[in-house]
Amino acid sequence: MDRITARVEALLAKMTLEEKAAQMVQVPYAIVGREEALRWARLGAGSFLHVLGDDAREVQRIAMQESRLGIPVLFGIDAIHGHGLNAHATIFPTQLAAACSWEPEVLRAMGEDTAREVATDGLHWTFSPVLCLGRDTRWGRVNETFGEDPYLAGELGAAIIRGYQGDDLADGEHILACAKHYIGYGEAVGARDACDTEMTYRKLREVFLPPFKKAVEAGVASVMTAYGSIDGTPFTADPVSLRDILRGELGFDGFVVTDWDNVNALVTRQHVAETVEEASVMAARAGNDMIMTTTQFYDAVVRAVRAGALQERVLDDAVRRILSIKCRMNLFERPEKTGRAGCLGCRAHLAHAREAAQKSIVLLRNEGMLPLRAGMKKVAVIGPNADDIRAQYGDWTYFSHPTPNPGHAPVRPYVTVKEGVEAACAARGIACAYHRGCSVPDGEYEDIEGAVAAAKGADAIVLVVGDVVDQVGEEKDRADLALSGKQEALFDALRALGIPLVTVLVASKPLALGRVALAADAFLCAFNGGMFGGEAVAQALFGEINPSGRLPISFPRHSGQVPVYYNQLPGWHAKPGRGYCDLPRTPLFAFGEGMGYSAFAYDGLTMDEKTLTASVRVRNTGAQAGTETVQVYFRDVVSSVLTPDKRLIAFRKVTLEPGECRTVTFAFDAADFSLVNRREQRVTEPGEFELMAGHSSRDEDLLCASFRL
Ligand code: BGC
Repeated sequence: MDRITARVEALLAKMTLEEKAAQMVQVPYAIVGREEALRWARLGAGSFLHVLGDDAREVQRIAMQESRLGIPVLFGIDAIHGHGLNAHATIFPTQLAAACSWEPEVLRAMGEDTAREVATDGLHWTFSPVLCLGRDTRWGRVNETFGEDPYLAGELGAAIIRGYQGDDLADGEHILACAKHYIGYGEAVGARDACDTEMTYRKLREVFLPPFKKAVEAGVASVMTAYGSIDGTPFTADPVSLRDILRGELGFDGFVVTDWDNVNALVTRQHVAETVEEASVMAARAGNDMIMTTTQFYDAVVRAVRAGALQERVLDDAVRRILSIKCRMNLFERPEKTGRAGCLGCRAHLAHAREAAQKSIVLLRNEGMLPLRAGMKKVAVIGPNADDIRAQYGDWTYFSHPTPNPGHAPVRPYVTVKEGVEAACAARGIACAYHRGCSVPDGEYEDIEGAVAAAKGADAIVLVVGDVVDQVGEEKDRADLALSGKQEALFDALRALGIPLVTVLVASKPLALGRVALAADAFLCAFNGGMFGGEAVAQALFGEINPSGRLPISFPRHSGQVPVYYNQLPGWHAKPGRGYCDLPRTPLFAFGEGMGYSAFAYDGLTMDEKTLTASVRVRNTGAQAGTETVQVYFRDVVSSVLTPDKRLIAFRKVTLEPGECRTVTFAFDAADFSLVNRREQRVTEPGEFELMAGHSSRDEDLLCASFRL
């Protein structure tokens, strides 16, 4: 028996049934209030969420000094793209924005910096990353995903987990990550948040499990269940996905936490249990180790064990997992992680946030307008999201908090697009006009004429459109993805001036932009870039950086076209070129798309059947150095079940000087070309395959080579 196991077993042997039940409870501090929280600490509650700084320290002190066994508590927080509730924290781009970098190292650094800042606040655990896929973009939480592709989400998810957790959970600077929401939360019918999921176990394994598998391989310490249900069973009550698949097959050895009040929801929302006691038994049996928010679990589960409705060893297993993590974090000796004093918003972290924002910028259209030229006299920055730091930050920060404490509003150095462009103009002696034009959504403010007047005489218009936090997040799904309010009218009025116009999207996800993107001279997607999102936009516009982001998610032409993700299954009335009778099938902008101020040409794709090594040549044909993301997809030509026409299987970023050519090599093994068959087994079926490599998921951007396995 190793040291940790011995310690855990010794503690467990001393614990009463009540203490075990308490260890499984996660108490919502902000909801129950201080007095009640301290009572729970004395009872031996295992964890608290949504409490920071000195309040957390007080809870910890009480737990360690006044509970019978003095077991330290774990504090969890939603530090989703930075430690968003601390006014001094570094705010990174959202997961979706950062995913545009296609760069695991960007995510790793973001995770590590966030961990340090969270630890400095006395906390141990972030409920991040989201490994759900953003396939139906009407969903309000698409901003929290790494986009639509399981391979990319897995690579980036594993990277941020490594960043949060480091090599040693006990080193004082790293925190627990939480892969969520297990599983298929984004796949709810109609994108209606937290509703039933149209999913079979085969599909679960094929599409949604791979990112979680990579998370487990990266050593993720916790997994959070999803609100939805599969074939009539709520995920929180589903032993197949939680016990058989997650623990049994993936070998997950951390602990499972429910999502918010999931156990109560089994009674009140999903109606699969009559009482909280019944729901508690279901949840414990299914494999949940920690129960978020449903504090009634404590009494209920004690009663259930006493009545013989649940075996105590189910609790023992859960408590073992929680205590093991506490030991691995060294919480008994050092209950408060010390982080690194002064690290909140420190220079090194800000530099990473800046770099992440820069690498998140995706240029999707450029009819010769960009980069903006130095000889201009006047630039007009127009639009509702040009100077709206709330919209730029996006969800899970102070600005999206339901009851923000005005004393804790984020402090500088954040930079909006307006401020970034003003600074760039000032440095070049260019005049810069600003006008908001209208609000998002409708009603609050509208002055299109004023905006047109401000833009008159400009050499270039930068129009910043998008969505706002009121349209983003839980229970904020949108049936209509068109730009809301008067944003389209604002575009039309400005376009009529005949001045070169670039549209910039500051939004939580792809919106159905239509002409606002296509009839502009240039279109640039920034999503929610965090602190330096606005600065990065300005740098891209003026050519201070060469945009290198690629879309991790497809843009629809129209809400009615959703879902429009690239890796759909083939259908025989869906041949290329066909689609709706009133709209093409293709997206407005495709997965993997993105350009810069260089151009890249590909040739010489080969695939060696024996070694399964592929190589392709890429050349920078542009006039300046640039970074290309070489993307590799495959197709299983004939398979026992339907498989997508394209699946991302590898990617690599390369930076090339003008004229420089590089051969990029990828090594695969047969398992990379696998599918999940009808018996739910992951297998590689022999036969013919196609390997595709190139600039984006669009057919016209890909070279193709056939091979056999
Ligand atoms: C969300 C989770 C989050 C939790 C705690 C839930 O409503 O679905 O993603 O971590 O609340 O705030």
